[in-house]
Amino acid sequence: MGSYKEIYQRASENPQEFWAQAAEDLIWQKKWQKVLDEKNSPFNTWFAGGKINTCYNALDRHVEAGSSDRVALIYDSPLAATKEKITYLELRDRVAAFSGVLKKYGVEYGDRVVIYMPMIPETVVAMLACSRIGAIHSVVFGGFASNELAKRIDDAKPKLIVSASCGLEPGKVIEYKPLLDGAISLSKNKPDSCIIFQRVMHQAELNEKRDIDWHDAHNKVTPADCVEVEATDPVYILYTSGTTGVPKGVVRPTAGHLVSLKWSMKNIYGVDPGEVYWAASDVGWVVGHSYIVYAPLFHGCTTVLYEGKPVGTPDAGAFWRVISEHQVACMFTAPTAIRAIKKEDPDGKLIREFKLDCLKSQFLAGERCDPDTLEWTEKMLKVPVVDHWWQTETGWPIASNCLGIELLDIKPGSPTCAVPGWKIDVLDESCKPVPPGEIGAISLKLPLPPGSLPTLWQNDKRFVDSYLTKYPGYYETGDAGIIDQDGYLHVLSRTDDIINVAGHRLSTGGMEQVLAEHQDVAECAVLGVSDQLKGQVPLGLLVLKDGVNTEHKQIIEDVIRMVRAEIGPVAAFKVALIVKRLPKTRSGKILRGIIQKIADSADYDIPATIDDPLILMEIKESLQKIGYAT
Ligand code: COA
Ligand code: AMP
Repeated sequence: MGSYKEIYQRASENPQEFWAQAAEDLIWQKKWQKVLDEKNSPFNTWFAGGKINTCYNALDRHVEAGSSDRVALIYDSPLAATKEKITYLELRDRVAAFSGVLKKYGVEYGDRVVIYMPMIPETVVAMLACSRIGAIHSVVFGGFASNELAKRIDDAKPKLIVSASCGLEPGKVIEYKPLLDGAISLSKNKPDSCIIFQRVMHQAELNEKRDIDWHDAHNKVTPADCVEVEATDPVYILYTSGTTGVPKGVVRPTAGHLVSLKWSMKNIYGVDPGEVYWAASDVGWVVGHSYIVYAPLFHGCTTVLYEGKPVGTPDAGAFWRVISEHQVACMFTAPTAIRAIKKEDPDGKLIREFKLDCLKSQFLAGERCDPDTLEWTEKMLKVPVVDHWWQTETGWPIASNCLGIELLDIKPGSPTCAVPGWKIDVLDESCKPVPPGEIGAISLKLPLPPGSLPTLWQNDKRFVDSYLTKYPGYYETGDAGIIDQDGYLHVLSRTDDIINVAGHRLSTGGMEQVLAEHQDVAECAVLGVSDQLKGQVPLGLLVLKDGVNTEHKQIIEDVIRMVRAEIGPVAAFKVALIVKRLPKTRSGKILRGIIQKIADSADYDIPATIDDPLILMEIKESLQKIGYAT
């Protein structure tokens, strides 16, 4: 092995040799011809010429190696009052059968399948079944409304959609079918068919011409085998928020995904095959793709699929119950989940009710981790608590304490240093690295390592414009921060209009588009303000058209309802304020950053270019009336 420094250096000096060695850990149908191909730079590829299958490496290889009886997936749902253990053999068979179903309904190699499902085993089955036959899945998070689902359907153009009758949230059943029907009627590209998994809590009405019941679909089906897939083919598309209301279709390349995730399990998370690994996220997000479904299975671990919340299902001891009951060795969640637990159980009384000596480490990501949360978790769990930083586009951690290599000193507020394979620089506006301790744009030197996005789905131009243009030779992460004197990274804020609400990445631009649709709204701005639980929540400012007589309360209720209906409950858009004007520069740019600082009671400088400084005082007073800017 070697120290972190040695391994980091090896990966930097000879990435091709480094990743070729890591790739030996997978089972290939045909070995690659070129480890890294830069001839179409910036559209670089890893392992070109190779043939490999994702599902084979997740399931069949373990079955063939004699681990048929090992538990692959534990489904634990306090919301459905259900628990189920599925072995590698059972999961392989269920996946092979569903691959047969997909084929029966016309899905072929390279076709897209949209999956709009809750946290149930059938979702994992559907994802792996796609990869088994070389179809490309695109999972859409259940908290998005019809309009957002429709945007993804229109971009991915799926042949088939897999969904369920409902999702479960505390105290409520969320009917998915009306949301799906709404999305299909809004979309220009109608799928040929939809396969619907009927849950016992709610039976959805099926459209005879288009919908097929999950169980009926299995009639007379021949299980399908794994096909050979080109190493550079996409395994999935995952849509993520950009600065506009149009989501970006992040493409995940098959072999890079396999190699990077398999490597990360031992080297970053420090887990071994056979151990239980739990990412308490949702399959609709990248964390769910990489660390609920794929990486633990590639590594032969047992993964936990938890359909519940950190609190309220039934209480703030839920996570500790799951860890102890299923003997979880490594856990991953978002800081917001820990804050929710800490709020209800500050002294950790519920933690002490469980035997947690199986737990070796606790990983956190998805948003900035405040030092208080990290220190509280360390004190309570008495294991290394690792803040690590990455994003949908990269698919796996960029900066982390790599526990499988060497535990470096933990600095609360920092996700430690670059993971081997990544080169992080903090740049100024002229693309020069800034001195240690100075803030700048966190950027990743090209070429990016395996697993990271090679492009956006059928949109090379947006890929280049969004990520590769501002800092030539680098990928722009959209995050700002510093590298300190010890080489530790600190991720401080975004450089764009993305906000992070309870670990969920959302576009304020997308919300502004919805607010602007209201008949009485002349102009609007949405910004993320600090929230003790969710990190940030959106706040809308509305300027009304002249002569509007509608009651302000009514307009605010309308826009809150509109954001929920068009983007979804996950946006958590609950506060809006009507103001006379918005502060702008003389060239007309809305000063969102200043309003955000005022709302958060932070220091701010009034820019010389502001058109009307008095408006800031008016906004401050309005914010104070609703509990901000204290
Ligand atoms: N389907 C439908 N609706 C959903 C949903 C889903 N899959 N997931 C969330 N929602 C809804 C919720 O019901 C809620 O609706 P409401 O406004 O009617 O209450 C809304 O979306 C916001 O949900 P959530 O973000 O879960 O907030 P919450 O207030 O219900 O719970 C936390 C707060 C902190 C407990 C919760 O945000 C949490 O567990 N966060 C962890 C986040 C995480 O795992 N992120 C992944 C990155 S690692
Ligand atoms: P997503 O693509 O949804 O995973 O969101 C990625 C974004 O979340 C990053 O670009 C950061 O802005 C933020 N983020 C994720 N993890 C961290 C972390 N450990 N520290 C700070 N910000 C983080």
